[in-house]
Amino acid sequence: MTTTAPSAVPQQAGGRPVGDFLWGVATSAYQIEGAAFEDGRTASIWDTFSRVPGAVFGGHNGDTACDHYHRMPEDVALIAGLGVDSYRFSLSWPRIQPGGRGPANAAGLAFYDRLVDRLLEHGILPWVTLYHWDLPQELEDAGGWPARDTAHRFADYAELAMGALGDRVRWWTTLNEPWCSAVLGYETGRHAPGRQDRGDSLAAVHHLLLGHGLAAQRLRAAAPADPAEPVRVGITLNTTHAIPVEDTPADRAAARRADGIGTRLYTDPLVHGRYPADVLDDLAAEGLRLPVREGDLETIAQPLDFLGVNYYTSHYISGSEADGLPEPDGRPVTRPVPQGLPVTAMDWEIVPRGLTDHLVRLDRDYPGIPLYVTENGAAFDDRTAPDGDVRDPDRTAYLAEHIEAVAAARAAGADVRGYFAWSLMDNFEWGYGYDKRFGIVHVDYETQRRTVKQSGRWFREHIRSSREQSAEPGPSAADGG
Ligand code: FCB
Repeated sequence: MTTTAPSAVPQQAGGRPVGDFLWGVATSAYQIEGAAFEDGRTASIWDTFSRVPGAVFGGHNGDTACDHYHRMPEDVALIAGLGVDSYRFSLSWPRIQPGGRGPANAAGLAFYDRLVDRLLEHGILPWVTLYHWDLPQELEDAGGWPARDTAHRFADYAELAMGALGDRVRWWTTLNEPWCSAVLGYETGRHAPGRQDRGDSLAAVHHLLLGHGLAAQRLRAAAPADPAEPVRVGITLNTTHAIPVEDTPADRAAARRADGIGTRLYTDPLVHGRYPADVLDDLAAEGLRLPVREGDLETIAQPLDFLGVNYYTSHYISGSEADGLPEPDGRPVTRPVPQGLPVTAMDWEIVPRGLTDHLVRLDRDYPGIPLYVTENGAAFDDRTAPDGDVRDPDRTAYLAEHIEAVAAARAAGADVRGYFAWSLMDNFEWGYGYDKRFGIVHVDYETQRRTVKQSGRWFREHIRSSREQSAEPGPSAADGG
């Protein structure tokens, strides 16, 4: 279902081709920009949520964050210094379209204009995400993602953004991780807007996917023609890699449920234009249904030029009732069980093998769609040495093992074309505030000084040596290292 030839490799608008494997770093607007109320930007749900007592660690918020809005030229130089091909960043919807409706805000757009130009000057491919969780507050007040209208508002915003940046930005991601928007935002309430209603969460899933489809149509229609560089439209998911704890019927059924609600609920409508029947049955058993209207699934299943995969861990799933703990609402037991593996500072188990298996599986079940790992990385409790250096062997090992896992997936035939490290720099980690550091560049929040960590130096060196190898006959760019 791709609209581009499978052999197409990323080309920079006016820049050099970037080979057959794309290396990048990623961030998102609310996590780094700061300048929360400057130049006409209005509040997003994260500005509101982070002010709710107890919602975010330490009462932190993104008012200043990494002050990237004011330090953008320095940060682009930093990105260039890492030797990456591409920078994945998100646009702040309330900066571009205050209040989520109506005309564009020229001052807000001007920031992204300068960012894109600066990236291109450095030969870095801009890879834009339209929505990384910062819904304009007014749209939440009007019902948020559980309301169908939000999907239409999103499509309008997408068209505005394409109109302003599409002459230079050719890689467009509609949504980042709709699972998080829907489940953490509307079911568990751990993320903005902090609502707790499973029915709302399911409605949000459908309207996020509908918003993706509507936006994909409008992006393609509004894209300035450039025969040398077609526009690419895709989506980034944090699909669930679910592994039965034991090879028993109960654990296999539980892993099937976890995979259904965490992966296929998104990938099946996006790619095949239908929701998975087993998931709909599970939901019906709870008395829940998705608010699907005629024609929605055709809209959702727009051709995907790529699928972005964000991967941090795998989930070992148990369906055993032996521990006697019921699931909430009397649902069948579907419980992630820690396996005693090494963990990151998020307590996420480190499972590189899961990334290989997951990529191979996505490639098998949804063939013909190039895959990009759009986020992978780890939080650890970094220490700055007296000499100012940040030596982070844990993060370096994590990156190396997962990049190797990508190479293994490629060797097994999966069409994986790129890898973005999360994150360029330490930033506002949502409910954890500034307490969790994912950067390959350290940020001192007192001074806003940036220091490339050992992991960042390793990443730069790895990219350099893989380019050298790929220039020679032999192993491919993502191999070894
Ligand atoms: C992903 C988010 C990203 C960051 C990482 C750690 O779910 O897309 O913003 O929080 O997790």
